[in-house]
Amino acid sequence: MTSEDAIFRPGLLKDKHILVTGGGTGLGRAMAERFLRLGAAVHICGRRQEVLEQSVGELRPLGPVHGWVCDVRQAESVERMVGDIWSHAALDVVVNNAAGNFLARTEELSPRAWQAVTGIVLSGTINVTMAVARRWLQANRPGIFLNISTTYASTGSAYVVPSAVSKAGVDALTRSLAVEWGPRGIRCNGIAPGAIRTEGAFSRLLPLPDLERKAMGHNPLHRFGTLDEFTSLAVFLVSDASAYVNGEVIVMDGGAQLQGAGGFTELGRSLSDEDWERLKPKKK
Ligand code: HXC
Ligand code: NAP
Repeated sequence: MTSEDAIFRPGLLKDKHILVTGGGTGLGRAMAERFLRLGAAVHICGRRQEVLEQSVGELRPLGPVHGWVCDVRQAESVERMVGDIWSHAALDVVVNNAAGNFLARTEELSPRAWQAVTGIVLSGTINVTMAVARRWLQANRPGIFLNISTTYASTGSAYVVPSAVSKAGVDALTRSLAVEWGPRGIRCNGIAPGAIRTEGAFSRLLPLPDLERKAMGHNPLHRFGTLDEFTSLAVFLVSDASAYVNGEVIVMDGGAQLQGAGGFTELGRSLSDEDWERLKPKKK
């Protein structure tokens, strides 16, 4: 039995309009699917049109879903998308899920490499948050933000430093805005998941078979999280069942963080100079 069968009643998210950034793949797509199954109308966005088209095509039988080509790093692109969404119906929930990341030795990062990750994770989250919240605040309308973080945001981690820095900023944003906008009906929470198998994350963060084995070995439960476990927490946090939860970033990682913080520190240290060379992007 999945936790969906166990806990969540059909129609729980009926009449909720939800935007999931980066909703064409991975955890974002899984949330989009789960929200649709529970009655929501869902918008997903990303940079790649073909990826969105495929996901929208697969998800459409489940309910109303719309794909938007939008680069969250570009404030104008975000403003255009949010304006277009609003011209049909106002959003009730936004999941800031889009991210960029890769394993690299920090001293080797170019300015563009820093910008690639911080632009998506930190600026992208801020761009989407501002465009939506201004509309909610102006209309005196309640709303919910759910920001997808990582466990190492609170501790830092070697070898994923642009991501750690950006996600720490996102967590600060979550907690700050929970207080600033809470009195005006806007809740802000986050989820800090441990490793959950997705193509996007595993191809960039655990790109060698040995790293996957080590990451699993580091986890007290000796397994990765599942999409079902992740989306169950997401549903709870975007539903009225969590109405009194505000400003929390909830860790769900099987206890990996408690076993030892900054999971990529240990993994990165196990790599040889030759491994690091192999992981560098191929010159275009
Ligand atoms: C060093 C790298 C690099 C790498 C790219 N760069 N990959 N540097 N090591 N592995 C550098 C490039 O050389 C370039 O700098 C600069 O970054 C920009 O690269 P582009 O490919 O032009 O950028 P862009 O097309 O914008 O792609 C952004 C990206 C890419 C972040 C680099 O990986 C991406 O699109 N990611 C989106 C999806 C994703 O990352 N998902 C994983 C999320 S998982 P120069 O100077 O050479 O021009 C996550 C948590 C996982 O966040 C936790 C798991 C437990
Ligand atoms: P993913 O499949 O690579 O998802 C990232 C998504 O973000 C993609 O759909 C990507 O689509 C989109 N995106 C990237 N840059 C964008 C931009 N500039 N504008 C709009 N969309 C953009 O990886 P994932 O594993 O599902 O990760 C989802 C979230 O979970 C991220 O916040 C990640 O940090 C977090 N997380 C994942 C894990 C894990 O183990 N999977 C663990 C901890 C945290 P395009 O490339 O088409 O734009």
